[in-house]
Amino acid sequence: MSVAIRVALATSAMGRRWDVDLPRMVAALRERGVDAVPVAWDADDFDWSQCAAVVIRSTWGYADRWPEYLAWVDAVAAVTRIDNPAEVVRWNTDKRYLRELADRGVPVVPTRFVASGEDVVLPEGPFVVKPAVSAGARDSARYAEHHHDLAVRHITALHAAGATAMVQPYLSRIDEGERALVFLGGAFSHAMRKGPVLTDVGVVDNDRAAHPGLAPHEPSAAELDLAAAALAAVPGQDTHLYARVDMALGDDGSPVVMELELVEPNLFITHSGGHGLRRFTDLVHQRAVAG
Ligand SMILES: Nc1ncnc2c1ncn2[C@@H]1O[C@H](COP(=O)(O)OP(=O)(O)O)[C@@H](O)[C@H]1O
Ligand SMILES: [Mg+2]
Repeated sequence: MSVAIRVALATSAMGRRWDVDLPRMVAALRERGVDAVPVAWDADDFDWSQCAAVVIRSTWGYADRWPEYLAWVDAVAAVTRIDNPAEVVRWNTDKRYLRELADRGVPVVPTRFVASGEDVVLPEGPFVVKPAVSAGARDSARYAEHHHDLAVRHITALHAAGATAMVQPYLSRIDEGERALVFLGGAFSHAMRKGPVLTDVGVVDNDRAAHPGLAPHEPSAAELDLAAAALAAVPGQDTHLYARVDMALGDDGSPVVMELELVEPNLFITHSGGHGLRRFTDLVHQRAVAG
């Protein structure tokens, strides 16, 4: 009797509630003969070593427990395959990677990182303050130029919480939609567009919708080129199981990288017309068999 190969899809309490792709991925993998199980990354009674592979999916909320999360990724990587790999997760959970992308010539949102003790220099015009380790627009806010004191208070609060702050000009053309280009196994799969998240000025609100007005998007050649350049600039030789490149238009109309998501992006598989789910299933199956 052959025993089905076991693959864990790592999620979280939030993911179990909101990740609409997760049950579809589990069902598609089971149809393929894979013993797919969704498991919260912080479950204390699950033996990850019994899995042929662990696929990080909706481990949302990890930013509040970042060291513990990285320790979990390392512990899993020590006993089985994990996608994306531990070193990719470590590199990609800290947005200081944007600096590396910029150094490699990839257009990114102009970003100043302000660590605790460093001087705060704010850009001219409207701007954004957010933490270097974050997701879902957590602890992020948009400010008007005259909001200097409010913004400094925000940055001080981020430092007090142990975070490094990021300051960026507010990209007003995000009103035309932030684009999310999804790659599976290194190949472009599908893209989505969403509306601006920081619609109110001068407030941190952690209950904002992460993907307002989500709609399918046909990427331009410039957007596809930018995504390819961003992915080519990631350290290491891996072809990532999945990647999402988020971008918005700068003032001159050319796209700039807002975020490169290699850890737990929402892949919007349910919006990919079936082919995304098939490709994801194929890739997970192949990688689990290959070990
Ligand atoms: N510089 C910016 N200009 C305009 N909007 C921004 C900017 N930075 C962040 N935002 C808004 O905040 C959201 C969250 O920021 P992002 O950098 O994607 O971090 P994360 O998704 O990891 O929380 C974005 O989707 C976007 O709507
Ligand atoms: Mg984002």
